[in-house]
Amino acid sequence: MGKIQTADIRGRALNLKGIRRAFLCLFLVTANAAFAADSVPGKAAIASAHYLATEAGHEILAQGGNAFDAAIAVSSTLAVVEPTSSGIGGGAFWLIHRAEDGFETMIDAREQAPGAAHKDMYLDAEGNVVRDLAVNGPLAGGIPGEIAGLEHLANNYGRLPLAVSLQPAIRIAREGFAVDEKFHELMNYRFKTIKRWPAAAEAYLADGEMPPVGHIIKLPDLAWVLENVAERGAEGFYSGPVAELMVKGVRDAGGIWTMEDLAAYAVKERDPIRTMYGDYELISAPPPSSGGVAIAEILNILEPYPINDLPPVLRTHLIVEAMRRAYRDRAIYLGDPDFVDVPVDMLTSQYYADGLRASIRPDRATPSSMLAGNDQIPEGTDTTHFSIIDAEGNMVAATLTVNTPFGSCFMPPGTGFVVNNEMDDFSAKEGEPNAYGLIGFAANEIQPYKRPLSSMTPTFMLGADKRAVIGTPGGSRIITMVLLGILDFMRGNEPESWVSLPRFHHQYVPDKISAEPGAFTPEQVEALRVMGHEVEVRNSTWGNMHGAMWNLETGKVSAGSDPRTASGRAIVR
Ligand code: GLY
Repeated sequence: MGKIQTADIRGRALNLKGIRRAFLCLFLVTANAAFAADSVPGKAAIASAHYLATEAGHEILAQGGNAFDAAIAVSSTLAVVEPTSSGIGGGAFWLIHRAEDGFETMIDAREQAPGAAHKDMYLDAEGNVVRDLAVNGPLAGGIPGEIAGLEHLANNYGRLPLAVSLQPAIRIAREGFAVDEKFHELMNYRFKTIKRWPAAAEAYLADGEMPPVGHIIKLPDLAWVLENVAERGAEGFYSGPVAELMVKGVRDAGGIWTMEDLAAYAVKERDPIRTMYGDYELISAPPPSSGGVAIAEILNILEPYPINDLPPVLRTHLIVEAMRRAYRDRAIYLGDPDFVDVPVDMLTSQYYADGLRASIRPDRATPSSMLAGNDQIPEGTDTTHFSIIDAEGNMVAATLTVNTPFGSCFMPPGTGFVVNNEMDDFSAKEGEPNAYGLIGFAANEIQPYKRPLSSMTPTFMLGADKRAVIGTPGGSRIITMVLLGILDFMRGNEPESWVSLPRFHHQYVPDKISAEPGAFTPEQVEALRVMGHEVEVRNSTWGNMHGAMWNLETGKVSAGSDPRTASGRAIVR
C-alpha cells in the first residue's frame, strides 16, 4: 500500500481518461439507440420495500401497463402500506428511462415551502431553533407533491389511465393491511408524537395503544382521497373537498397552508446529472437533490483509481476521502436551483475532481476541519425507494419520502394520510444541524415556494452490456449507500449483492467513518485508525435498498431487495 502505488495508478489512468470518455459517450449514445430498437428484456423486475407494492406493480403490468404505470401503482400502494416512509402527504423523485427513444428525465414532485414560510419560522425569540416545530406537527409540512407527480407520470409517460393504476392502492386502503415489523418498530419510535394528533392516532393505533405486528389497519379516508384523485386527477387533491380538509386541518392545528399554496403546486421535470464512470454512464438525481451531484463528484475523484482492485484499507480510505469532500460541497453549494445558482457544472467537472483528488494523501486522513467549510452531520432512517425495469426496457428509479418516520405525525382529520416534515430538510439556521445532522447555509435557507435540499438519489447505470436501477432510503447516508452499490455493480455483481453488502459512511462532519457490523475486519479498523481516521463500528444497520438489472448480453433480468427489512420484495416475472 502507499504513495508509489497510488501515484502510479493515477498517472496511467489520467493520460487515457479524456480520450476514453469522449469515445465511450459517443458509443453509448449509439448503443442506446440501437438497443432501444433491437433488444428488450422480455421480463419485468420490480423491487420495493413492501411485497404488496411489488405485487401491485406487477398487477398493473399484467393489465397492459408499462413501467411508468407500474410506478404509479407501487408509489400509491407504498403510500398506503408504508406510511412510515412515504405517502401522498409527502414528495418524490421519479427518475425515468423511456426505452423507445432512450429519453431520460427526473420528475421532481418534491414538497415546497408554503407561501407564508419565512427564513426564521422555526426560531424562538432568542434565535434558537425550536426542533419540535420543525419536525412535529403541521408547521413542519411542505406542500405535498406526490399526487401531482403521479398524475404527471400517467399523463405523459403511462399507457393506462391514472384511475386504473391507483386501483390496487384504493383496494388495499379499504380492505386493510397487516402491521409488519418495520411499521411496529417505527411506530414505537414515533408513538408519543402520533398520540398528539387524534386523526393519526385513530388511523394507526389499536384503541390508542401500540398496534401489534399482524394488526390489520384499514384506511377508508385515504381510500376516499385516492378515489377523488382517480375521478378528478390531481385536481381532486389540490382543490375541492380534499384540499379544504387539508387546509382546515393544518390551520386549525397551527399550520400555515392555504388553498392558494395547494393550487400553486406544480411538478417540474429536471435534466438528470450525468457522468461517465468506467464504461458506464451514471444518470442520477439533480438539484433540488444533492444525490446526483455528490455521487458524480465522488466517482470523478475515484475514477483514475482501479478502486475495486485496491487493497481493502486503501480502497476504503480513498472512498472516504472522496465522500468527505463531496459532503463538504453539499453543505456549502446545494439548494433549490430555481432559487439559488448551484454550480453543477463545476462540481461535476473532471477538473474540479482532479483538484480535489490532488488534496488527498494516500496514507493519511484529511481532517474535515482542514477543508474550507463548516460543522456537523449524523444518520438517517426513513424514506423509501423502488426500482423497475419492464419487459420493454423502460426503467424507473423512484425515491419517495415524508422525511422522518411518519413525517410530522400530523394527519388532517378526514384524510387518512400524514403530512410530511420536509421543511426540516431546509437549513432552519445557518450551520445548525437538522434531524439527520445535516448542516446548510444560505443556498438552502427557507423561502416561500422553495424546495428543500434532498439526499434522495434514484440512479441508473447504463452501459452497452448492462443496465442497473438503484436507490435507497436513509437520509444523509443515501448517497454513500448508492455509491457503494454502484461500485459493487462495477465489480460485476448482481442486485442481491448490492443491496446486501455491509456499508460504511463518511459525511464530512462529524469527522468519522461509521460502519455496519461486518464492513471491516478488526485489522482493517486498526489500519484505518493508524491513517488518522476515527472509525465507529455500529451494532445496527441502515438503509433499505432495492435494485434491478438487465444484462443485455445474457438477457437476464434480476432484482434484489435489502435483507435488512423483512417486508421488502423483489420479483421478476
Ligand atoms: N427527506 C430526506 C431527503 O429528501 O433527503
